[in-house]
Amino acid sequence: MVKLKLRGMKLLRLLHILTASIWFGGVVCMGGLAFICFFQFNETEFLTFAPWIPGLYQSVILPFALLTIVQGLTYGIFTNWGFIKHKWILWKWILLICVALCTGLGAIGQMFSVIEKVESSGFTGGFTDGGLVLLFISLQILFMVIMIILSVFKPMKRKNRDVV
Ligand code: HEM
Repeated sequence: MVKLKLRGMKLLRLLHILTASIWFGGVVCMGGLAFICFFQFNETEFLTFAPWIPGLYQSVILPFALLTIVQGLTYGIFTNWGFIKHKWILWKWILLICVALCTGLGAIGQMFSVIEKVESSGFTGGFTDGGLVLLFISLQILFMVIMIILSVFKPMKRKNRDVV
């Protein structure tokens, strides 16, 4: 299998840090927006701005998440990092599945049900309406922070002079 050379590795790392940062930043902004929607808005404002949360997800978070995942696959296939050679990389894949579940089924799915609920039976706000959405967004942030810590400290790294 063809492996990336040093220059290619540096470029991949640069792209990876950029796209992962935008993904992480997007999730934090989604959390901020959700907090404002549930704690500071009345019903009309909520129904105007709440759909921006799935909008932010579709226009920024999802594309950059997909790009980051493609880079993860590139690391696995075209570099010596592999998929399961290092435990910290295996953990990143496991956490990625947790983040995906918290996003799709969790935050975004819940947000659509809350919008439907507010349209049919009114807005209460706070944790009553927003508890689950805010919980799932907080979990995403937590899992991604763990991924960043794992990436920087690379614990359980196998001694291997092939990797840069
Ligand atoms: C499951 C998909 C992912 C895989 C397989 C993966 C794999 C890797 C690998 C192999 C490196 C080392 C690059 C090097 O030092 O040359 C790396 C670096 C890094 N990753 Fe990921 N990554 C993934 C997702 C993410 C995500 C979602 C984030 C952010 C939340 C992230 C944040 C970082 C950061 C900040 C670095 C730079 C660490 C440093 O330069 O010391 N990665 N990743």
